Amino acid sequence: MASSYLLLVVSILCIYGGCGALAAIPAKIGKGYRLISIEETANGGLLGHLQVKQKNNIYGADIPHLQLHVKHETQDRLRVHITDAEKQRWEVPYDLLPREKPLPLRQAIGRSRKTLSTPTDYPGSELIFSYTTDPFGFAVRRKSTGETLFNTTSDDSDRYGNMVFKDQYLEISTKLPKDASLYGLGENTQPHGIKLYPNDPYTLYTTDISAINLNADLYGSHPVYMDLRNTGGKAYAHSVLLLNSNGMDVFYKGSSLTYKVIGGVFDFYFFGGPTPLSVVDQYTSLVGRPAPMPYWSLGFHQCRWGYHNLSVVEDVVENYKKAQIPLDVIWNDDDHMDGHKDFTLNPVNYPRPKLLEFLNKIHDRGMKYIVIIDPGIGVNSTYGVYQRGMANDVFIKYDGEPFLAQVWPGPVYFPDFLNPKTVSWWGDEIRRFHELVPVDGLWIDMNEASNFCTGKCTIPKGKVCPSGTGPGWICCLDCKNITKTRWDDPPYKINASGLEVPIGYKTIATSAVHYNGVLEYDAHSLYGFSQSIATHKGLQGLEGKRPFILSRSTYVGSGKYAAHWTGDNKGTWDDIKYSISTMLNFGIFGVPMVGSDICGFYPAPTEELCNRWIELGAFYPFSRDHANYYSPRQELYQWDSVAKSARNALGMRYKLLPYLYTLNYEAHISGAPIARPLFFTFPTFSKCYEVSTQFLLGSGVLVSPVLDKGKTKVNALFPPGTWYSLFDLKETIVSEGDYRSLDAPLHVINVHVYQNTILPMQQGGLISKEARMTPFTLIVTFPAGATEGHAEGKLYLDDDELPEMTLGNGFSTYVDLHATVENKMVKVWSDVAEGKYALEKGWTIEKITVLGLSGSGESFALEVDGSSVSDVSHVQLTASEQHVATDKLEDEGDTR
Ligand code: GLC
Repeated sequence: MASSYLLLVVSILCIYGGCGALAAIPAKIGKGYRLISIEETANGGLLGHLQVKQKNNIYGADIPHLQLHVKHETQDRLRVHITDAEKQRWEVPYDLLPREKPLPLRQAIGRSRKTLSTPTDYPGSELIFSYTTDPFGFAVRRKSTGETLFNTTSDDSDRYGNMVFKDQYLEISTKLPKDASLYGLGENTQPHGIKLYPNDPYTLYTTDISAINLNADLYGSHPVYMDLRNTGGKAYAHSVLLLNSNGMDVFYKGSSLTYKVIGGVFDFYFFGGPTPLSVVDQYTSLVGRPAPMPYWSLGFHQCRWGYHNLSVVEDVVENYKKAQIPLDVIWNDDDHMDGHKDFTLNPVNYPRPKLLEFLNKIHDRGMKYIVIIDPGIGVNSTYGVYQRGMANDVFIKYDGEPFLAQVWPGPVYFPDFLNPKTVSWWGDEIRRFHELVPVDGLWIDMNEASNFCTGKCTIPKGKVCPSGTGPGWICCLDCKNITKTRWDDPPYKINASGLEVPIGYKTIATSAVHYNGVLEYDAHSLYGFSQSIATHKGLQGLEGKRPFILSRSTYVGSGKYAAHWTGDNKGTWDDIKYSISTMLNFGIFGVPMVGSDICGFYPAPTEELCNRWIELGAFYPFSRDHANYYSPRQELYQWDSVAKSARNALGMRYKLLPYLYTLNYEAHISGAPIARPLFFTFPTFSKCYEVSTQFLLGSGVLVSPVLDKGKTKVNALFPPGTWYSLFDLKETIVSEGDYRSLDAPLHVINVHVYQNTILPMQQGGLISKEARMTPFTLIVTFPAGATEGHAEGKLYLDDDELPEMTLGNGFSTYVDLHATVENKMVKVWSDVAEGKYALEKGWTIEKITVLGLSGSGESFALEVDGSSVSDVSHVQLTASEQHVATDKLEDEGDTR
């Protein structure tokens, strides 16, 4: 029996035309797949064919023949793609996430230049792919160190033979060394912090549940992890993306990681790093560079569900002004809508003429206005958006009819953003709405997609489904369980919602159908991503301005279009902590503009918590206070103590805006996160690998918040070197890599700047538009007591209304700032690219503060752009005539 089976194998292989030398090797009994041919292809990749060995019937029948395509797509990026050799399978659509297409099935076979005869290495510049033939398994090694990064060949290959590939179940594992620190795999609560925690489940499936203490799947799906290893005092980072949109469980056991996926293909990308920053650079060069954010979006945002009418909103804006707390953006949740319907205005509570008057007023001050849009379109024959949607046939279907769900407006249909017609219709609705209300950005919510009902529903006869808050939350449609198709009840059940509920639970039925017959089962986790793309397109078409979009649900590549907030968190001390891990993960996911609802969405925060939260939230890349309908009001001015903390922390944020904006530019050109785990700057300092209670802004600004009730001290880790308190510029910490107990009374947040940094700051203000025109200060830091040293910084300035964030268009300037100290002489200079723009704007540098020079009382000479200033030890240089753009910082006389 065994030998006739083998003969059959060989003949199938020859039909495929790939009768390579490996075909002659006799097959071993066992599970998994056998590599029966492999050859080099004209495009410089490898093309292999795999044949299933002894079948195993767990979770369905094995796919008999697989096609393997391996390619070093760039110097640092290796792709390993495995799919059914005979039938096209679902993959993340190439128009949604543009990338190289793997070879079409079978076509390249027989056109090989060379057939590889023995298992061998396939090296790129830094990564090496290698394989075993029987059972098939593969490994990825780093050339420079020889270290194995990923290895699917199991010591216990008997179990599944290294790999399982069925229609609805894919499984593959990698071995990991014990010292690997892993990060990513979200969006999950991650109560154990940023470093992946062995034996925690990591389920990826976009789901509307609030942050809970379980490590459950939340709103986004990002099947990527970064792996940091410290080998003999040298650190190497790489990352692994499994580009697959189907639901999956990822089991991390410390010494191994196993993917259990319910569809699609294995499409692995390996990014060689070797630094954390180069990893995110390589990652975002594939999945899309983070969107440029408008300057104002880095200001503070106030939102709330339950601003019942316009005068409440007007009041909030006035109260911020009165309390002298910075505020750039005021938001409306669905309160401005008529019957909770997208793109409408409530004529009584938000009458258009009054709203326009208000918008004129705040726009004149430089403030902005954003409103929410949910994907569910109210089923209501008198509603224009619905009528035009029906006329254009834009909705997701079930049994040939639009799929009926229920969200805030009551019964709704969900637009299918995979359909080009929907994208045009959505853009047109945005345009119409913008004519009605000139909003400055859009907030797209509930796009996992969230549904109050489960199953196939009808509108109950004679009953009206309530819309809005209160009882409208409960599913009022008449719903039957979906007939159990294999999509609604797949053989393997992911740990959806941490509760093992069916995958269609409170979302779109997974057997519902999108454009071109695509199943919701496959595209589920792409919903928010596809809505972000459509919304971006719609907004970009309007005024030629840079769009701002905030999306709750995200997928690989979302950062190119949208910012993200971490959804419905709780006003608890646990949740303030979770917010840091999620924020840092999103930096790794290429979505650097991220933050959490400051003070918590619900329930009501205590006054103390809200103090601590604004101190932390003032340093989130995206800084917004938002609360639930049922929570008491929690604007920052509601408590005197919180207002004081806010003035302090946001006051510093507004001074740091030029730095944050430059980080936004760096994110846009290289994927560098705005908020970063400490190991991004200190990758060899293993003590910081698990730090989830502190973070860096850019490379050298360390934020160490209080995250515990009743604490007035914070135990903060300082990587080796000198750190200066940013608030007083006096406190100096010289660390050998140790923890320090810092004073942190209620209104104090500790922020330190690292040695060798030049930090561009301005004077701050209450609105970013004003703050950004104030004179600059440069903080130059050398190691404490330095007699020799250097410092560096960067500054990007542009007209942030333009859609592009780029140099060379005449509306931007880039400054490389340098400083040295040597022989009692401090030199500060700049290299300016495209200086004309900054010169025209008239920016000035008012002051340069140099920290860390040796010995008090000693005098140092200062030279700025080649001109001597004077002998000073702590320099405060006035140069009010000078423009950074001129590449000169000539003094007008120094002051001390
Ligand atoms: C969702 C959002 C929340 C919003 C609410 C009402 O729960 O996550 O931020 O306030 O819907 O629109």
